[in-house]
Amino acid sequence: MKKYMLENKKEIPCIGFGTWKLKNDESTIEVIKNAVDSGYRHIDTAFAYGNEEMVGKGIKQSNISREELFITGKLWNDDRGYENIINACKRTIKNLDCKYLDLYLIHWPASPALYENWKEINNETWKAFEYLYKNGLVKAIGVCNFKKHQLEALIETAEILPMVNQIEFHPGFMQKEILDFCNEKNILVEAWSPLGSGKMLKKESLIELSNKYNVSVAQLCIKWCLQNEVLPLPKSKNIERMKENLNVDNFTISDEDMEIINNLEYMGGSGLDSDTLTLFN
Ligand code: A2P
Repeated sequence: MKKYMLENKKEIPCIGFGTWKLKNDESTIEVIKNAVDSGYRHIDTAFAYGNEEMVGKGIKQSNISREELFITGKLWNDDRGYENIINACKRTIKNLDCKYLDLYLIHWPASPALYENWKEINNETWKAFEYLYKNGLVKAIGVCNFKKHQLEALIETAEILPMVNQIEFHPGFMQKEILDFCNEKNILVEAWSPLGSGKMLKKESLIELSNKYNVSVAQLCIKWCLQNEVLPLPKSKNIERMKENLNVDNFTISDEDMEIINNLEYMGGSGLDSDTLTLFN
């Protein structure tokens, strides 16, 4: 699989396998084994998904060497605070039984709607991330769901720039301002919900375009991410669909059609906004 290169020259497989909503039971072991069998070498996890142990077991039972896999973990909001963060990272490594993380991300910025001192909280969190990186527990560090102004605030005191920003990204919701800023700063954008959690698959405009290329809407959305130099993290529990989502090398979306997809109006999404969010602490 093609790889992107992070700012620190670490390689990252250009499509990742998302694990949100997988249960913390044996079924997840099978899903992960199938994903690795299908060719995924990049697994995106998070403590908040509540399934780290089963994902870890799936990875172990896949019989693939640790070095061949790229594993991402995420710090949950409950674990903020310098010491807590270091312990949370170690707990994730233990849960996944994976020796180190290839990438560790702040799952959500502290919400300005909840914290007046959101900048300080994020900047302190980042200090702990820099420690984890310098000490080799994690091979790369980054953030999720940071908007431009939140990144700018973080960069003010950062010694090491985030290498990744994982954001919601699908047709109709490109978050262009964040994308442009990240490109300017050489921060790789990863796409969560690249299929709009499945919602994009029924959109007439995308069905028409996918027919033109003789591919599925899922493949069109994934290729559209890649041609925007964004790293998609599709999820599927089904082995045929896992394979389908990796099989995107044999077509290219024309510049004209990229423009059309880039300019699609909002067609639905999670509705989560990191400036106004009060759902999580
Ligand atoms: P399933 O697990 O049954 O395949 P996203 O990655 O944007 O969060 O979307 C995930 C949703 O899209 C899941 O409901 C998943 O269902 C579905 N999905 C993933 N890949 C495909 C595909 N190639 N075709 C149809 N549905 C898909």
